[in-house]
Amino acid sequence: RKHRIAVIPGDGIGLEVIEAGKKVLEELAEKSGEIQFDFKDFDWSSKRYLEQGHYIPEGGLDELKTFDAIYFGAVGSQEVPDHVSLWDLRLAICQGFDQYANVRPARVLPGVTSRLQGADKIDWVIVRENSEGEYSGNGGRVHQGLPDEIGTEVSIFSRKGVERIHRFAFELAMTRPRKKLLLVTKSNAQRHGMVLWDQIFFEVARDFPEVEIQRELVDAVTTRMVLKPETMDVIVATNLHADIISDLAAALSGSLGIAPTANLNPERTFPSMFEPIHGSAFDIAGQGIANPIGAFWTAVMMLEHLGEETSARRLMDAIEAVTRSELHARDLGGAATTAEITDAVCQHIDEQ
Ligand code: NAI
Ligand code: MG
Repeated sequence: RKHRIAVIPGDGIGLEVIEAGKKVLEELAEKSGEIQFDFKDFDWSSKRYLEQGHYIPEGGLDELKTFDAIYFGAVGSQEVPDHVSLWDLRLAICQGFDQYANVRPARVLPGVTSRLQGADKIDWVIVRENSEGEYSGNGGRVHQGLPDEIGTEVSIFSRKGVERIHRFAFELAMTRPRKKLLLVTKSNAQRHGMVLWDQIFFEVARDFPEVEIQRELVDAVTTRMVLKPETMDVIVATNLHADIISDLAAALSGSLGIAPTANLNPERTFPSMFEPIHGSAFDIAGQGIANPIGAFWTAVMMLEHLGEETSARRLMDAIEAVTRSELHARDLGGAATTAEITDAVCQHIDEQ
C-alpha cells in the first residue's frame, strides 16, 4: 500500500523534527515491506514569505488536496508577526480543508517524569473545535492609533459547527474504555455562543446514552487537570479553550516536545493534517537538540488515520521503548540529540 504524504516542515525546529519523522517512517516501511510512503516536500515557510510575500503559492491548496495526508512541522519566525504566519499557513490549511476536529491525546510515556504528582493517571484526549469559535477571524479595529481605538474579536458558533464537533467527541468517547466525556465551557460569563455550545452538547448526548457526561467551566478545568487528573477521559472544548488546556496537558504529561495532534476532516473530503503541538522554538532551532518524540507520536496518529494500525502500533512501541530507556532530549532533563533519539527509535523498529 502506497501513501502519498505532503510534507510541510515550516520553520525552526519544524525542519529538524519532521526530517527525523520521515526517517522513522521510512524505517517502518522498509521493515514492513507492505507499505510505502511517497513524500513530497513543500517549502511553505516564513523564509519563503520574506522572499516572495506568501506562505502558500497560488494553486498550492489545490495541489495539497490530492494527498492522503499532510505531515506538518511548525510555523513562526521572529521576522514575521505570529498572527500573519499562523493565519497565512496553518489556519489557511485547517480552515481551507475543513479540518474541524483537532485531536490531542495526553498521557505520560514510560520513563518520562512529570512534575505533577499522580501524573501517571493522565489518559486524556482533548477534542478541540478547529474551524470557528474564537478563531473565526471575525472582528476589526476602528480609530486606529487614536485614544478611543477599539479592537473587536467576535467568536462565531454555528449550530452546524458545534453539533459536528460534539458528535465527533461523543463518538470518540464511545471507543474508549471509560466512555466519559467532559464538556468544557464558559457559559456563566459568556451568555450567547457558549450557552448554545452547552445546549447542543446536551442535545447530542441523547444519542449516546452509554457515555457518562461531565461538565466544567474552563477556569475550573485547569485545577481539575492538576488536582484530579484521573477523573477525566475525553474532553471537548472550543478552539481557544482547548488550545490553552492542551498546552497545559502537554506540560503535565512531561513536555511540549512530546505531544502530538491531528487536524481531522472526519468526512475525508479533504486530507487531514498531522503535527506536533509545539512551535518553531527559536531558542533551540538549528542546534539539533529538539525532541523529535512529538513528531514521531504525530506520525503514529497519521498511520492510524491511513488505516495502518500495525505500523502505528510498531512505531508507538519503538517510541515507548526509547523513552523507557530514558534516552531523553534536554526538555525532559536528558542530553540526547534529535539524531540520537531518531537512531534509537529506528533501531527498535528494526529489532522488533
Ligand atoms: P514553542 O513551542 O516553539 O516553544 C516553547 C518552549 O518549548 C521553548 O522553550 C522551546 O524550546 C520548547 N520546546 C518546544 N518544542 C520542543 C521540542 N520538540 N524539543 C525541545 N524543546 C521544545 O512555542 P513559542 O516559543 O511560544 O513559539 C515560537 C514560535 O512558534 C512562534 O512564532 C509561535 O507563533 C510558533 N508556534 C507555532 C505553532 C504551530 O505551528 N502549530 C504552535 C505554537 C507556536
Ligand atoms: Mg497552542
